Amino acid sequence: MNISKLASTLEGSEIIKIAGEINELKRKGEQIANLTIGDFDSNIFPIPDELKDGIVEAYRDNQTNYPPADGVAVLRENVSSFLKERFKLEYKTNQILVAGGSRPLIYGTYMALVDPGDKVIYPTPSWNNNHYCRFSGATQVPVKTSAENNFMPTADDIRPHVKGATLLALCSPLNPTGTMFSKKDLEEICDLVIEENKCRAADEKPLYIMYDQIYSLLTFGEQFHYDPVSLRPELKDRVIYIDGISKCLAATGVRVGWAFGPEHVIEQMKTIVGHVGAWAPKPEQMATAKFLTQPVELNNYLSTFKGKVQRSLDALYQGIIQMKADGFAVDAVNPMGAIYLTVKVDYIGKKTPEGKILQNSADVNFYLIKEAKIGIVPFSAFGTDSGVNWFRASVGACSLEDIQQMIPRMRDALSKLK
Ligand SMILES: Cc1ncc(COP(=O)(O)O)c(C=O)c1O
Repeated sequence: MNISKLASTLEGSEIIKIAGEINELKRKGEQIANLTIGDFDSNIFPIPDELKDGIVEAYRDNQTNYPPADGVAVLRENVSSFLKERFKLEYKTNQILVAGGSRPLIYGTYMALVDPGDKVIYPTPSWNNNHYCRFSGATQVPVKTSAENNFMPTADDIRPHVKGATLLALCSPLNPTGTMFSKKDLEEICDLVIEENKCRAADEKPLYIMYDQIYSLLTFGEQFHYDPVSLRPELKDRVIYIDGISKCLAATGVRVGWAFGPEHVIEQMKTIVGHVGAWAPKPEQMATAKFLTQPVELNNYLSTFKGKVQRSLDALYQGIIQMKADGFAVDAVNPMGAIYLTVKVDYIGKKTPEGKILQNSADVNFYLIKEAKIGIVPFSAFGTDSGVNWFRASVGACSLEDIQQMIPRMRDALSKLK
């Protein structure tokens, strides 16, 4: 094929493939509870009214030319204040880069730091690091995590791989699990990175952390969001944070994200993101800047939004735990943040009524889609092997009623497996 080597090695998102199967069944008239995509049904979870009005207002005000390559100044100023107020993090406007959602910033981080062949460490399951590694030609170092530690990586998991590595990609609350770092686990990982960097020569590339906290405002109950620089300020030159409004304001289609970190890295990311032209639309930047200065409206929005997400996650969690109590081979991890529930469906090796053996998690997944009309995503789509029987259920695109109605269908479908 007359295409580049890079293009021929890239793959589309596995989740989008599963969503495609579901859409095909929907076209045929099937009613399916779609818990596959990390998105929102915007009629169930609309963006804040003030943000909506601000976007319309900015278009009416003709804010429609190119924004500056690093984002409009007022947005970077307001992000800087927001970081200080919410997280007690001190970042100046030249340490903040705005882009069209957080994806271009993740891409920019990889491109600014990673040379072909460099080692990038990331936990599995995790979201899309395999694809960004391929983009940058990185040597991928996926690190297995365990259900016992809520699928979050520990310093002991990472330690054998840090020698010579360039990037450690972390995320909390984590997509796909909805679980979060404990203070102790994140502190130990930070200390490991500090120790490793002390051993490197002055002309050697240091080990950086990319810390994706796109779900940091979506935490439940007493759960506290920890971040590396707050725990270990000496890491400030080594951490690139990824953040934005896509998830915490249910604004996935609005496309405003920001990264913050050491100026020398942010400056390079600005050039990369600028050449790709991946700026956030200017009216959306202006509106986001305004909304960040409205803490009362933001807090009201977050408490209603989180309450609704949590009710859906809890309904699903309770439904699964009741099934477990009734003898089904299922389990779930108590939701801590984001919009995901980690669900175990331990039916690999079982036989369907048609006599087909479910060989792997993808078979279990398609059985649930066909028989129970429920779409979830196996962790194999997030880098684990296909024998892992844990799945991600995303509640953003379903109503509470949809979720309550799917549990009996799941019971029926699983009871038919022998
Ligand atoms: C952990 C994580 N980071 C980043 C993103 C991308 O966000 P955006 O829509 O802002 O590009 C996602 C989207 O699913 C995500 O789950």
